[in-house]
Parts: sequence; structure tokens; C-alpha cells
Amino acid sequence: MKKIIMGDQIFKAFGEGEEKRNVLGGVSACIHEGEFVAVMGPSGSGKSTLMYALSGTDGIDRGTVVVDGKDLSGIGESELSDLRRTKMGFVFQQPTMLKHLNILDNIILPSMRGNRKNVALITGKARSLMKRVGIFELEKRDITQVSGGQLQRAGICRALMNSPKIIFGDEPTGSLDSQSAQEIMDLFSEINAEGTAVMLVTHDAKVAAQTERIMFMRDGAIVSELKLPKYDGRELDGRIERITDKMRESGI
Ligand SMILES: Nc1ncnc2c1ncn2[C@@H]1O[C@H](COP(=O)(O)OP(=O)(O)OP(=O)(O)O)[C@@H](O)[C@H]1O
Ligand SMILES: [Mg+2]
Repeated sequence: MKKIIMGDQIFKAFGEGEEKRNVLGGVSACIHEGEFVAVMGPSGSGKSTLMYALSGTDGIDRGTVVVDGKDLSGIGESELSDLRRTKMGFVFQQPTMLKHLNILDNIILPSMRGNRKNVALITGKARSLMKRVGIFELEKRDITQVSGGQLQRAGICRALMNSPKIIFGDEPTGSLDSQSAQEIMDLFSEINAEGTAVMLVTHDAKVAAQTERIMFMRDGAIVSELKLPKYDGRELDGRIERITDKMRESGI
């Protein structure tokens, strides 16, 4: 199967001189088109750094990152930002939204860049996504007037606006109660079933258990991996158990 993301021997350090710390020590990781993967590992193990490296959000010191056939080292800033805007969507633990804009405007804002003529089209797409994720009636609300789960749905709508090939989620369920977290996971599963690859960083084995491959990180390296059949809503407990066994085995 074709790879949407290919990372090879990625090295990344933060700090200078005496303070220099290697955070990624030669990590190789691929994501195939339409795949649903999770990254787990202790705090500080390099999960977010890996995600930002694979998505071209942050530069790397050494190694290769190829996104949809494009080697990121060979492209300039504007091509990189086009690639990120057209191929990738991002969802974070705390959706970064502008306080003075309502939900709808926050969702459409990134798509408006250089695209002013298509306001009607863009708004139409946003409304259909909002309907789909169950927040259609909230478009005029201020971002402080909705729940965490609703705000995260808005974040997902925003990430889906450009029909990306892959969605990256850094702890997207991390600040939600368990029911809202499950609703968000159901949404990711649906999006994935439609062919969009999804990569989630998570501390939650229940979240990871709903993906089909889990990469376990420790000290800036992927130390093991677990493949699971696509989740069909059954045997979640057994899947969670396989994850916790693997974590124990890998010293996480
Ligand atoms: N911009 C930065 N400058 C300096 N150090 C950084 C920076 N970003 C991350 N680090 C360090 O790199 C290491 C890995 O950070 P990273 O955010 O990737 O961890 P993580 O696995 O995502 O952890 P968490 O589960 O807590 O989110 C940590 O020690 C962190 O302090
Ligand atoms: Mg992190």
C-alpha cells in the first residue's frame, strides 16, 4: 500500500552546547494511505516531536521525511505550507481557536486564505461538516459558549475543511470526559473508514485500542509496535489488554 508519510532515520535535538538534548534518535516511521495509527509512550518520550517532524511542522536535524511522495528537505516554505494545508489536518488537545470569532468563522478561517471568492462554497462545506459532527446549531456561538467536546468537534471540522489525506491528532481526547472522548473516537473511526489516514498521540489505551497499529516510544525511539485488526466495535477489552501487555513488555 502507498505511504502517505515516510520518515527515515529522523534525528532531532533541542538546545545548544551543554544543554543539547537528543529528543529523536534516528526514528523511522511510516503511515500508509488510509491507515489508523496511534503513538504511545511516557511523557517526554518524543511523541509530539515525532508527530511535528512527520508533518513538517518542525524541521529535523537529520534524516528524511516524505509526504505524499514529496521529500520535505527539497521544498521551500511556501510549498511546505501548501502541502500542509492541502494534505494534512491537525487536531490538538486544546483546540486553538480565536476568542473574538464564532464557531463557524473559526472553522472556515484557515480555508479563507487566498480564497476570498469562494466564501459561499467554503461556508457550505463547513456547515455540512458541522451537521455531520452534530454541532450544526452552534455556528453562531462564541467558543466560550460550547462544551469541550463540542469545541473539539469544531476543531475536527476545521481539520477536515480541505479534505486532507491524513489527520494528525496530538492528545485530541486528552481533556475530555470519557463519553465525549468516545464520541470523538467514533468520529475519527468514521473519518478513517472513508479513507483518511489518522495518526493519534495518546496516553489512553482505550483510544489506542481503536486504531490498527500502535507505535510505542521510549527515550526518543520507537521501541515496539503492535498491529491489530481494524476496530469494528467489538472486543475492546481484549485489545486494551494486548496494548497494556505490550507496554509492560517494552518497559513503558
Ligand atoms: N521546543 C522545545 N525546546 C526544548 N525542548 C523541547 C521542546 N519541545 C520538546 N522538548 C523536549 O523534548 C522532549 C520530548 O518532548 P515531546 O513534547 O515530544 O514529548 P511527548 O512524548 O509528546 O510528551 P507528553 O506526553 O508530555 O506530551 C521533552 O524532554 C521536552 O522537554
Ligand atoms: Mg506531547
